[in-house]
Formats: sequence, C-alpha cells, structure tokens
Amino acid sequence: MTTTIVLDCDPGIDDALAIAFAHGHPGVELAGITTVAGNVGLARTTRNALSVADFVGATTVPVAAGCATPLLRPALDASSVHGETGLGGAVLPDSARGPEGEHAVDFLIRTLGAAPGEITLVATGPLTNIAMAVRREPRLTEWARDFVIMGGSAGRGNMTPAAEYNIWADPEAAAIVFDAGWTVRMIGLDVTLRALATPPIRERMGTLGRLGATLLLPSLAEYHDLPDPAVHDVCAVVSVAVPEVFGYTAASVAVETTGRLTSGMTVTEFNPATLPNASVATDIDVNRFWDMVLRTYQALADTLG
Ligand code: RIB
Ligand code: CA
Repeated sequence: MTTTIVLDCDPGIDDALAIAFAHGHPGVELAGITTVAGNVGLARTTRNALSVADFVGATTVPVAAGCATPLLRPALDASSVHGETGLGGAVLPDSARGPEGEHAVDFLIRTLGAAPGEITLVATGPLTNIAMAVRREPRLTEWARDFVIMGGSAGRGNMTPAAEYNIWADPEAAAIVFDAGWTVRMIGLDVTLRALATPPIRERMGTLGRLGATLLLPSLAEYHDLPDPAVHDVCAVVSVAVPEVFGYTAASVAVETTGRLTSGMTVTEFNPATLPNASVATDIDVNRFWDMVLRTYQALADTLG
C-alpha cells in the first residue's frame, strides 16, 4: 500500500535526508514539497528542496515556497547547526527548475482539497505554513488523511531546556496547529534523539554510491547537532511508511507561547481529562528504523549510480 504525502519542510540536513527517504521508499508517494523559513532562510530552504529533489530523482515533484518569517516573532535560523547553506558540507547543483508560482499555503489547500482523505501532510520545520493554511481553510484538518510532524518533546527541548526547535521557532503557529481540531502525530525528541547516525551507520552510508558520497555523508559531516547526528525529520516520514517502528501514546498537547523560559514548550499530558489532540511517539525500534532506512537508501542509490 502506498501513502501519498505532501512534505512541508525547512531543508536543512535532516529534511534533505527525509526527502531522499520519501522518494526512495516504495510505500510513500511524494506528491509535493512546500518550504518554510527555519533552519536557514526561505530562499535557501526552497533552493535546497529543489536541489535535493532533483538530485534524488524527484524531478517532477512540485516545490512551493511559503512563509519567510514566523507569524509574530523574528526569524531565528539554525545555520549554526545546518551550516550557512543549510545542507552542511553537501554541495548540490542548483535546480534548473524554480518553485511553483503558487504560495505554499495555497498549494497545501488546493492539493489536499482536491483529494480529501487521501493525502497525509507531514511537517518537518516550523509550523508557520500549516498554521496559515488551517486559518485560511479550516477544512484542511478534515481533508488531511493524517497529519504528522517532527517537532516538540514530552521531555526536554534542544533549543532551550523546554523547547524543541521547530516549535520554539514559531510557537504561535504551533499553538494554532495543535488547537485546530485534528489529531497531531507528534514525532518529537523523545524518539528522534535515539535515531542517531552513529559511525557504523555512516560507514554503511559510505557504500551507497553517489547518494552516500554526495548527499548523506557530506551533509551529516557538517551537522553540528550532537556527537552522533540525529536524523530527526527522517523519523516523521518513517512513521508514515512503517508506523509500527514507533510506539505512540495519546496525549493532550498545549504549546506555551508566553513563558520567558518556557516559550515553545509542548506541554504534554498523557492522562488528558479532555479528548486527546495528539498521538505522541514515545518509543522507537532503533534497529528496525535503521535497517529500513538504509535498505531504502540502498534502493535509491541503485538508481543513482
Ligand atoms: O529539532 C529538530 C528539528 O529542527 C528538525 O526538523 C531540524 O531540521 C530542525 O528544523
Ligand atoms: Ca527540519
């Protein structure tokens, strides 16, 4: 069975690896990419999405550019982690094609509205585009087959002790998204910090031809995230391809937007008195995760030479 997705992202090293996985996995059909400012500015996230999509062979997947700043706050990038280009040490040619003429928000509404219940929306960056889309067209929450994010944490953050970057970058957008009425499948740091590209994993990536040599290894080599880089965003797409790689717990999640020290915190209540608005990933089968990711990258590498 194939699941059609639209990926809203801020490439970004792990976003780039998520695009590669989405295009490479036979159970995922990548119908579109929308970009948002986050790890680096919108011009670069859009350029990177086009370059990565073309490099992995997703040359006909439309890319639509979205919001260049958060809803209320100034744009604060993560170039210290992802590098000035946003792709670490990976150098890819510019795409010969440009982004769609349509804004990402309009692309999301039109694409999901044309196929209600058929497309899973995946977001791996700040939630600015998603918030604008659900405000412009509240039926988006019904049209999405599922809604999956890489973001948040039931425990500690990575930008502050309380907040994970994607939520921290635009907490007002995240609050709108979590309160929109759909169930958010939250793939947060609770599991993504266990999806580490360790030296043995990177050694296996080194056997993957051009995919490994031009994208995977050079990008990860300059990913100033952790001693062993966490491929956070790949987890969100893996959760679509093979949901059972993760364990999930229903929860009520609220986003802190005013706390001086806690802004961007996803306050997670696993014993909600009210109906849960989220399915939070609380466990990961790490061996199965990497076995499947590397098999997918191997199949993709075989097409790239
Ligand atoms: O906290 C990790 C998230 O922030 C990932 O999506 C990474 O790409 C950055 O955007
Ligand atoms: Ca990201």
